Amino acid sequence: MQISARTEAIEPFYVMEILARARELERAGKTIIHMEIGEPDFETPEPIVAAGVAALQSGRHHYTPALGLPELRQAIAEHYQHHYRTPLSADRVAVTPGSSGALQLLIALLVNPGDEVLMADPGYPCNRHFARLFEGEVVAIPVGPQNHFQLTTALVQQHWSERSRVVMISSPSNPSGTMIAKAELEGIAQFVAAEGGALIVDEIYHGLTYGGEEHTALDLPGEPFVVNSFSKYYGMTGWRLGWLVAPEAAMDGLDRLAQNLFLAPPTPSQYAALEALSVETAVILRQRRDEFMRRRDFLYQRLVALGFVLEERPEGAFYLYADCSHLSEDSSQFAMDLLEQAGVAITPGKDFSLSHPERWVRFAYTTSMEQLRVGVTRIAEFLGKGGRQ
Ligand SMILES: Cc1ncc(COP(=O)(O)O)c(C=O)c1O
Repeated sequence: MQISARTEAIEPFYVMEILARARELERAGKTIIHMEIGEPDFETPEPIVAAGVAALQSGRHHYTPALGLPELRQAIAEHYQHHYRTPLSADRVAVTPGSSGALQLLIALLVNPGDEVLMADPGYPCNRHFARLFEGEVVAIPVGPQNHFQLTTALVQQHWSERSRVVMISSPSNPSGTMIAKAELEGIAQFVAAEGGALIVDEIYHGLTYGGEEHTALDLPGEPFVVNSFSKYYGMTGWRLGWLVAPEAAMDGLDRLAQNLFLAPPTPSQYAALEALSVETAVILRQRRDEFMRRRDFLYQRLVALGFVLEERPEGAFYLYADCSHLSEDSSQFAMDLLEQAGVAITPGKDFSLSHPERWVRFAYTTSMEQLRVGVTRIAEFLGKGGRQ
């Protein structure tokens, strides 16, 4: 069978190897502490589940319009008004199958063969592959603690060429959890707009931020494209629902693409998501966010004490991206040894980075405080620092 070159170019998630081995060890009777998983451990909040069940039981099994249920597009638009004080017309909102669907639509919309797509390295690995699938050229720009693992205006200017078309930013970032400074994002937006390019800002970890006020990129110069999701903050990963906000001029193209690629986002999930944006659910989500913050504080402090290098305490998502280069020459081997010898699963840097991935590992605090405590004790013993915990 011939497998296309574009498929061959897609790398597997190495964390799946870790996960598969972790499951094997669990089947053999070992207990594993899971710090590799990039989704909340909490169940979907009850009011959302109830709304999904009600949708199923009342016969809402049919396609919705390709860009989503009008009520949900309206509710999302209102969310921008309430949460960010940014007025938004529902006509500019498209509901998508996860933010994965949104990212694919946008790359399909914006990228011609050979166009360059600029993104931070380390970063969310699927972005690289989406660009490749639509025959774009990825420009992976190395970032690190010195720039909070985010692109800067200077970096974008430096890497911009006449073939550059799109800049992609995730804030808070996966894998680092760090946020881009408002002024820096403004600078990038201004530059990209002046060059006639497009800026995509992935705000999927909004809601899960532990610093100051959250700002959406929506009101920046040049009408950036904004992507978000019900997966992370709203705890709905398996419901496969996200959204994007685009300039009005893009909506017709997005509609045609969505009709052809997906027909529509999942209908019961859309009814459930109406409840995700309700006042009742907001209380539950806020408590969960506070719990994530407690976990971050605990894990950050312990990892630093154990000798992992983390320049700053990240302000969002549920990840810590640590330099382990003085503990091991190869973070993939380090992650595998930690799993085999200590029963702690983490993700090696090579899932996120092309430049020096062997230095880095990602810890996800998507498990309970109790489990994190056990995990940290095991890591300490693995590093021969058991007495100090
Ligand atoms: C930065 C980022 N963007 C997008 C996604 C895709 O999520 P979903 O398709 O569930 O919305 C993820 C998932 O881990 C992510 O980390």
